[in-house]
Amino acid sequence: MPEGTRRVALVTGGCGGIGAAICRRLAADGLLVAVVDRPGAPVGEIAAQLKGAGHIGIEADVLQEAAAETAFTEVERRLGPVSVLVTAAGILLLRPDGSRNPIAETSLEEWQQTLDINARGTFLFCRAYARRVTEPREGGRVVTVGSVAAQLGGYRSSSSYIASKAAVLGFTKGLARELATFGVTANSVAPGLIDAPMLRLSLDPADDAKAAAGIPLGRIGTPEDVAGAVSYLVSPDASYVTGNTIDVNGGYRMQ
Ligand SMILES: NC(=O)c1ccc[n+]([C@@H]2O[C@H](COP(=O)([O-])OP(=O)(O)OC[C@H]3O[C@@H](n4cnc5c(N)ncnc54)[C@H](O)[C@@H]3O)[C@@H](O)[C@H]2O)c1
Repeated sequence: MPEGTRRVALVTGGCGGIGAAICRRLAADGLLVAVVDRPGAPVGEIAAQLKGAGHIGIEADVLQEAAAETAFTEVERRLGPVSVLVTAAGILLLRPDGSRNPIAETSLEEWQQTLDINARGTFLFCRAYARRVTEPREGGRVVTVGSVAAQLGGYRSSSSYIASKAAVLGFTKGLARELATFGVTANSVAPGLIDAPMLRLSLDPADDAKAAAGIPLGRIGTPEDVAGAVSYLVSPDASYVTGNTIDVNGGYRMQ
């Protein structure tokens, strides 16, 4: 890549709590960012707030098979080839009171929607990226967003969510193996309890201290904690790190 060229990053779920923090961090790191989120999400507003000029917003529903190809084509047309893909789009379906449906009461619709957005959506965007990697690509990086739920079985998340994030973690290793041929890395981050909208479906801020008591570092994480790990994974310092999962959980789960 010619010196002075800004790498282009495409971030799905870029309007979410964690996704927007990742967009902010990558922009601050000097990348050109395409903020991708579902139709109606404030993609342009988030892009306009990022450090530096030239960032763009793109509406895309990761449920739609054509959406990933369309998004990549538009980013290429407006910003150039995508070097960095981060897949942060995701959902967790809980009951209105924040509790999870037990498996016995999980509908096929809940299972399917969760798997489709979290796992299939990740696959579709990674496939669009992989289709474009036909020769060695310096600085090529993929970071998928898993969850401690997939590793621990999830205390507060649904079984379909746990399954979808386990699929993401496994899929990313397969991707890493394939893209390694081209010098491109693929890794996951596995956030623990992070002060972002998905956690707030099941945890009232008034109960944070109680939840934090079970975390060795003694606090709920921030979206910026996750963005910092992503920043490292897409940096030149991480060029020999692939097929890995970085836990961002304050020690909640230690291997
Ligand atoms: N908050 C946590 O504690 C936590 C912990 C572990 C993992 N995660 C993961 O981090 C990611 C972000 O979580 P968050 O807490 O910031 O939640 P969030 O709800 O703020 O972010 C999710 C984003 O995904 C987008 N999205 C959902 N469905 C979509 C679709 N069909 N097409 C395009 N975009 C879609 C949403 O619009 C939203 O902007 C998720 O993948 C989540 O599973 C979060």
